Amino acid sequence: MTQDELKQKVAQAAMAYVQGVPVIGVGTGSTVKYFINYLAEMKSQIEGTVSSSEGTTKLLKEAGIPVLDLNDAGIIEVYVDGADEINPNKQLIKGGGAALTREKIIAAASKKFVCIADGSKRVDVLGSFPLPIEVIPMARSNVARAMEELGGRPVWRESCVTDNGNHIVDVHGLHITDPVKMEQTINNITGVVAVGIFAMRPADICLVSDGEQIITF
Ligand code: A5P
Repeated sequence: MTQDELKQKVAQAAMAYVQGVPVIGVGTGSTVKYFINYLAEMKSQIEGTVSSSEGTTKLLKEAGIPVLDLNDAGIIEVYVDGADEINPNKQLIKGGGAALTREKIIAAASKKFVCIADGSKRVDVLGSFPLPIEVIPMARSNVARAMEELGGRPVWRESCVTDNGNHIVDVHGLHITDPVKMEQTINNITGVVAVGIFAMRPADICLVSDGEQIITF
């Protein structure tokens, strides 16, 4: 199976988790795009969705699926999103698509976070994927220096302005053996808006497509 077929397959498997759920949180990325296609087929059963990015909002609206403001939606029953890396504890690296801050907010506001990914995203230790950090633009160099002190190699994602008007620094070369501690440490650097480690609020269920199989953990 191609990677796209694996993404589509796992997106379809996520549909079992959103049956009868009135308001669904929707993540961002190529795997979620397939999920939105499936969601469109059952849109008459959905009260609304809460979107994690302008890109996802556009796709949802094009599919005729209502999009609600999180402030009006209250607690989200189920949030479905992809990941760039998943460790065995369901802790994630996210933000390859630069939507990490809104994704983190929706994850925090959700009762159940269902993470969907193809098998290439599974790792034992987070950090091979460069860790995205959303920063206030004037703090970029200062955050980069702090990340060098933590042993990383920060690279400014130059062409990228986030939906919140901020910049992204991708940090290479980290070996994140204690994701909660690293998330807290980076959160404490002044000028950081959000770091793409999802460890304090990990996924609740991971669905990973591995050939014909869907692995659930
Ligand atoms: C978006 O900012 C990311 O967190 C995505 O959820 C992540 O990059 C997964 O994307 P793909 O489904 O495209 O691999």
